[in-house]
Amino acid sequence: MSDLEALKKEAALRAVALVQSGQRVGLGTGSTAKYAIEELGRLLQTGELQGIVGVATSKASAELAREVGVPVEDLDPRPLDIAIDGADEIAPNLDLVKGLGGALLREKLTEVQARRLIIIADHTKLVKQLGEKAPLPIEIAQFGFLSTIERLREFLPGGRLRMVGAGNFVTDNGNYIYDAQLPEQFDPAELERRIKSTLGVVDTGLFLGMAERAFVAAPDGVQELER
Ligand code: A5P
Repeated sequence: MSDLEALKKEAALRAVALVQSGQRVGLGTGSTAKYAIEELGRLLQTGELQGIVGVATSKASAELAREVGVPVEDLDPRPLDIAIDGADEIAPNLDLVKGLGGALLREKLTEVQARRLIIIADHTKLVKQLGEKAPLPIEIAQFGFLSTIERLREFLPGGRLRMVGAGNFVTDNGNYIYDAQLPEQFDPAELERRIKSTLGVVDTGLFLGMAERAFVAAPDGVQELER
């Protein structure tokens, strides 16, 4: 395992230590969340945790959870006790950019219902301001996507439709993703409002005011950040 992978795993284990038996747990998506799901499976197997139910934020995470023995249920209106997920960028106030893995809509739908959202990441995800390193993924309907992109480009020029090989990337929900370049200065809440009021947009990868805590692993140890 590379040094970076070891750091990601360390962060994941710190978050999973917060999970208690009988809890309903939001299962994130991505290479860091994978370690958390595997650890939940391990703890269920050893009996250190019992009666956990997972709600997965992607088909891939649901599949992994089943493989490692974490029971999975669909999202319903009941709150989740805790959700554990990775992020693509983490601002000092724990506002996030998510969705480079394409799971932003299910992540937001699930995590907005969690009493606690715990973020796990390695130190490369820390930024002073969102948009510094990553584009902002915006999930858009397939129908009329070129028109939607034109509307988005009026205030977010420079983005591009996400591709996979020669084809368009399709989310678990059958939508496309426009990866937008964020401006140098912007008000995140205002930008979120503007993007979401654009016809054809389903949701954005801005997760504002949602995360309670982040475990961020660096070579000199795991930093615990709070909102
Ligand atoms: C999935 O769509 C994203 O929101 C992930 O949470 C994010 O890409 C983090 O993934 P890694 O842990 O693989 O960096």
